[in-house]
Amino acid sequence: MTNEFTTAQLLERVTESRIADGDARVRRIAARIIGDLFRAIDELDVQPDEFWAGVDWLTRLGASGQGGLITAGLGFDRLLDIRADEADRRAGREGGTPRAIEGPLYVAGAPLAKYETRVDEGDTPHAEVLVMEGRVLDTEGRPVSGAIVDVWHANEHGRYSHFDPEQAEYALRRRIQTDAQGRYRFRSFIPPGYAIPPGSPTAELFEALGRHGHRPAHIHFLVAASGQRLLTTQINIPGDTFLDDDFAFATRDGLVVSLEPGTPVSGYESLGVTRPFTRVRFDFVLQPALTEDESKPLARMARVAS
Ligand code: BEZ
Ligand code: FE
Repeated sequence: MTNEFTTAQLLERVTESRIADGDARVRRIAARIIGDLFRAIDELDVQPDEFWAGVDWLTRLGASGQGGLITAGLGFDRLLDIRADEADRRAGREGGTPRAIEGPLYVAGAPLAKYETRVDEGDTPHAEVLVMEGRVLDTEGRPVSGAIVDVWHANEHGRYSHFDPEQAEYALRRRIQTDAQGRYRFRSFIPPGYAIPPGSPTAELFEALGRHGHRPAHIHFLVAASGQRLLTTQINIPGDTFLDDDFAFATRDGLVVSLEPGTPVSGYESLGVTRPFTRVRFDFVLQPALTEDESKPLARMARVAS
């Protein structure tokens, strides 16, 4: 056996030599990706300094915890949604609220309320008061009582609690359990868009790619109910500059809501509103779950860890 290799021989040794079976699926995916990278280095004549600059960037990206920003910004999160939509179409699983990416900023275990709550942490003088309300329904139009609507959004500076040390634990994060008629409602404010942290490894790549790192204003939801398929989605606020130019490619046409400014206070006093406010009415429609696993209220990382 020789220890002098051509590129092809090296690739074969890297992907084929082993002392145990390992995991066949991991081996197959790794072999494909390593092979693609070998070819890219060859065809693009990637220089050692370029290669090591990439490794340095990846190391800093990992340390910064921004892997989930990069997957979204490079389109992978939306790709997975497109593929899930295609799989659903092939399986005849139509109907229901469109899915939209979870993003990397979800935190499990937000405070739980029944039917209605304030999601904001007190008045936000420079933001518009928002009340969002509606029902959780199944695809037959029946209300789903006891569903959990897990909602989270950015603060007035576009930052998310937990990742932003200046915010309280679970700020702008709540879970709301629907009532017997499947209803939920909450008060908060219309959040601004999100922007990737300046000076971060993510921003560095986006600068080099000549891309911006802005998301339009949006509010996230995980909606879970027994027997129903977990729904991960977002609503978008109309009129945002980046609505059709989301750095995470996550806007869905069916999820841009209508705003009803000037909604009178009457009937909303329990949410503490004292002046006409902006209302959004939105029903979440859940598909039936085909397996128990599909209805588990697990975010993406908890799902792979479970
Ligand atoms: C967000 O939803 O805010 C988000 C999504 C992907 C990357 C970064 C942020
Ligand atoms: Fe977000």
